[in-house]
Amino acid sequence: DAIRNDYDLSQSLATGSGLRQGLTSYGHAHFSLFLRKVFIKALGYSEDALSRPIIGIIDTNSGFNPCHGNAPQLIEAAKRGVHLSGGIAIVFPTISIHEGFSHPTSMFLRNLMSMDTEEMIKAQPVDACIMIGGCDKTVPAQIMGGISANKPILPLLTGPMMPGSHRGKRIGACTDCRNNWASYRADKIDMEEIMGINEELAPTIGTCGVMGTASTMACITAALGLIPLQGASAPAVSAARLRVAEQTGTHAVVAAKAKRTPQSILSADSFYNAAVVLQAIGGSTNAMVHLMAIINRHPDLNSNFKLERLDLIGRTTPLLVDLKPSGDNYMTDFHNAGGMICLLNRLRPLLHLNALTYTGKTLGELLDCTPFRDFEYARTIIRPLSDPLCPSSSLAVVYGNMAPNGAVIKASASKDKRLLQHRGKAVVFENSQDLALRLDDPNLDVTADSILVIKGIGPIGNPGMPEAGMIPIPRKLAAQGVTDMLRVSDGRMSGTAGGTILLHVSPESGIPDSPFGVVQTGDEIEFCLDERNLELLINVEELQERIARRKDALTNAKDGEQQSQWLQRQTRRGYRGLYERTVNQSHQGADFDFLTAAGA
Ligand code: FES
Ligand code: MG
Repeated sequence: DAIRNDYDLSQSLATGSGLRQGLTSYGHAHFSLFLRKVFIKALGYSEDALSRPIIGIIDTNSGFNPCHGNAPQLIEAAKRGVHLSGGIAIVFPTISIHEGFSHPTSMFLRNLMSMDTEEMIKAQPVDACIMIGGCDKTVPAQIMGGISANKPILPLLTGPMMPGSHRGKRIGACTDCRNNWASYRADKIDMEEIMGINEELAPTIGTCGVMGTASTMACITAALGLIPLQGASAPAVSAARLRVAEQTGTHAVVAAKAKRTPQSILSADSFYNAAVVLQAIGGSTNAMVHLMAIINRHPDLNSNFKLERLDLIGRTTPLLVDLKPSGDNYMTDFHNAGGMICLLNRLRPLLHLNALTYTGKTLGELLDCTPFRDFEYARTIIRPLSDPLCPSSSLAVVYGNMAPNGAVIKASASKDKRLLQHRGKAVVFENSQDLALRLDDPNLDVTADSILVIKGIGPIGNPGMPEAGMIPIPRKLAAQGVTDMLRVSDGRMSGTAGGTILLHVSPESGIPDSPFGVVQTGDEIEFCLDERNLELLINVEELQERIARRKDALTNAKDGEQQSQWLQRQTRRGYRGLYERTVNQSHQGADFDFLTAAGA
C-alpha cells in the first residue's frame, strides 16, 4: 500500500471532472492523473497549459453539414477567447446532423446526438464545454445532453446564412424552397427557372435564413439565457459571428471558474421566457417538441412544465417578428433590426426578468447593461407591443377525442384563416407511401373543403417523426388555385413551411390504442382554434370499438399472419430498435424515456 500521495493534485487535468469526483479509471486517483497527463502530453501540452481551466470545444463540422461550414473559423475565434482569458481550449468531435442528409430523419438522430454530447462531456476532463451547433436538431440535442451532463455549457451557434437573389427578388431556404416548388408543381414556373432558383436558395454556409427551426432554437437559446444576445442572429459569414465566438470563449473560462451549470441557470422562469419568445417570433412548431424535451431533462422541472403551458403563454403574447414563414423578411433583417436585444426589450413587460443567464446576471440585469436604441426600420421587422402582427397565439395547442394529449398548430402561418374554424370530411392516407401513391390521382375524391389526414408519421410511426405533415395540395386542386387546406397528422412540418396544418397529434397512430389511428376516410372532423378543439365526429361507442379492434389486430399475432409493425418493433436490432422501443410521445419531447430526468 505504498501509494505515493504527493503527486501534485493541484496541477490537475480539468478540476471539474474525474479526479475530484473520485472517478479513478486506473485504480488510484494519483496514478489516473499521472496517466492522463502522459497521454495528453503526447500532443505537446506543458504542465502550465494543463493547469488552466480546460474548455472543451465540440466540433460538429462535417462535409455533409453546410449549416456548420464556419465551424473552423468559430473554433479559432473561441480558442482566442479562451486563451486570452487564461484557459486552455481542447477541441473534440461529436456527431453532426444536417436536415438534408439524415436518413430517415434528423429527428431520428437528435437523441443519439444528445447522448453522444452528454457522454463525451461527462467522459472527458473538461471544466466547461463550448458546443458548436446550428442546424435544426443539433442545438436542442446539445442542450438536452448538456443539461443532463450538467457541467458548464456554452452553446455557440453557427448563425444564419445570407439570403440569395433570383431575378431581382430575395429568396432563402427554405420557405422559398417550398413556395417555388409549389409554383413549379402548379406549372407556374418552368424547369429552367426552378433550376436557377435552386442555385440561389442557400447562397452561403449557415443555417436556414428564415424563422425556421434553426433560427427559432437560436432565439430560444438566447431567451433561456445561455448565449450572448447577438449570438442568436449574427450571420454565419459575419465578423459579428466571430466576435460572438471569441466572447463565448471568454465566458467559458468564467463559467468554468464559477461552476455555472445549466441546471443551476435554467428554471421555470427561463422556460417561461423561452415560450414568450417562441410565440413572439412565430417560431417553428418543431421547437415545441424540442422545448418539452429540454424541459424534461431538468430534474426540477420535468413534471410541472407541460405542453399546455406553451399554449397558455401564447394567449397573452403577441406575434412581433415579421419573418418568413409567418411574415416577409429574413434573419439578416432581424439581426439588422437589433435581433434579440431589440425583441427582449420590446417584450420586457411580459418576461420573467429574474431568470438567470450564463453571465451570472439575471435577464433583467443583462438587458439593463446592453445598449439598445429603437429606430424606424427596427419597428418594421420587430413590431412594438402596441402594433403586433397578430395579437396572440401564433402557436397553439389543441385537444379533443382525436388528440387527447394534444396537437399543435402554427396559426400565424395559416394562409386561409377561414380554415381555423372548419368542419369537413376526412381524406385519410395511412402513411407516406400511401400519400405518394394517391395524392395526385385525378380520381381522388377530394375538394377544397376536405380535411387531409396522414397517419403513421409520429415519433415511432415512420420512425423519427418526419416533416411530412405539410401535405401538398392535391395537384388537381392546386391547378384550380387552391393554396391552403386543413391538414392533420401525427408528424412534424419544417419550421420554414406554412399553411393551416395540425401537427404532432398525440398519441400518434403508431401506438396501438391511439384514437388518431382509427380515423377513416369519410369521417367528419371539426376544428376550432378559438376553442382549442379537434374532434372526430363519431359517437363514443364507435370510437371505443374501433380502437379495441385495431389494438387487438396490432398486438396479437395471429397464426400464419405477418407480424404487425408494432410487434416487429419489439425485437428490432440496433439504434432503430432502441429508438422505437423507448421514444416518448411528441407532447413529452420525443426523447428516449430513459434519458428524461424522471428516467424510464
Ligand atoms: Fe440546416 Fe435548415 S438545413 S438549418
Ligand atoms: Mg428545418
